[in-house]
Amino acid sequence: MLLSKGVDVVVFDNLSSGNYDNIKDLPVHFIKGDVLDKDAISDACKGIDVVFHLAASVGRQRSIDHPQLDSEINLIGTIDVLEGMRAHRVKKIVYSSSAAIFGELLFPEIDENHPQNADSPYGVSKLAAEKMILSYAGIYGITAVCLRYFNIYGVNQRYDLYGNVIPIFAHRLFAGQPLIIYGDGTQTRDFVNVYDVARANVMAGLEYDKTNVFNLGSGESITINRLAEMLQEISGINTGIDYQPERKADVKHCKANANKVYENMGFKAVVPLEEGVKEYIDWYRKNIVEAL
Ligand SMILES: NC(=O)c1ccc[n+]([C@@H]2O[C@H](COP(=O)([O-])OP(=O)(O)OC[C@H]3O[C@@H](n4cnc5c(N)ncnc54)[C@H](O)[C@@H]3O)[C@@H](O)[C@H]2O)c1
Repeated sequence: MLLSKGVDVVVFDNLSSGNYDNIKDLPVHFIKGDVLDKDAISDACKGIDVVFHLAASVGRQRSIDHPQLDSEINLIGTIDVLEGMRAHRVKKIVYSSSAAIFGELLFPEIDENHPQNADSPYGVSKLAAEKMILSYAGIYGITAVCLRYFNIYGVNQRYDLYGNVIPIFAHRLFAGQPLIIYGDGTQTRDFVNVYDVARANVMAGLEYDKTNVFNLGSGESITINRLAEMLQEISGINTGIDYQPERKADVKHCKANANKVYENMGFKAVVPLEEGVKEYIDWYRKNIVEAL
């Protein structure tokens, strides 16, 4: 998306969970490096106008399994990025934050003022990094836009141990296994397509010029039962549902209030879930199932 706007792009990633194949045919300058390597990240900041900071150890369960690593990458790694920016006078950062900073959700619809009660090492490290970025913005005059994503899905998203529900459901459908739902499936989630997330990043990086924090979701929610049904209908595969006991930490309802980001940045998610899921299932069939 940045390339299509004529932007020169440098990608800095240690490929721990990233996949080089996704960018190998693009005219970007790729640096294989770790945000914990201060010299490498600082060098990568030379001559840069805007940093899009996505590098992270991602997910609640991964952070519970590896709490030190989570904070090292997500918080200390963010300080390394900020110091690199400071050394080379980079004036803007767009940070990929997370709805995990809120912890237990107290209301059905979550706006930016929801209490920040992060309840996992991941939520805490993402919240601390967000606060660190905002503190650098105040001290050094950097412009910082923090986008707190809700559940992202879309093509190129792979099934893994710590994966999200849409890739997990797709994986199980094509493997002939029942879809596992924890609880009665009436819990709701807000899914936002990766295309919309990329668009929000580009708008925040190239068009918006203030320091701010935004919740970023579709502003709509769906029950997990309906999501399962949607994947079954679209894939044409029905392997049944295996209802398991509710998980303790799971929230019941989750939906982003999408007003602030619309009022300030003019951003509104545009990809309907059904269309995004269809695109994902088609991608999965072609790139995972048929590539086996
Ligand atoms: N996927 C979601 O639903 C979601 C929700 C909220 C927030 N986020 C945030 O969005 C961002 C991207 O997440 P994602 O879901 O695309 O996960 P991802 O694992 O695909 O992306 C993280 C990237 O960071 C890289 N990385 C990890 N550690 C690194 C290090 N030490 N140095 C350099 N690169 C490193 C990985 O190789 C990978 O390319 C993360 O900051 C995450 O916290 C994601």
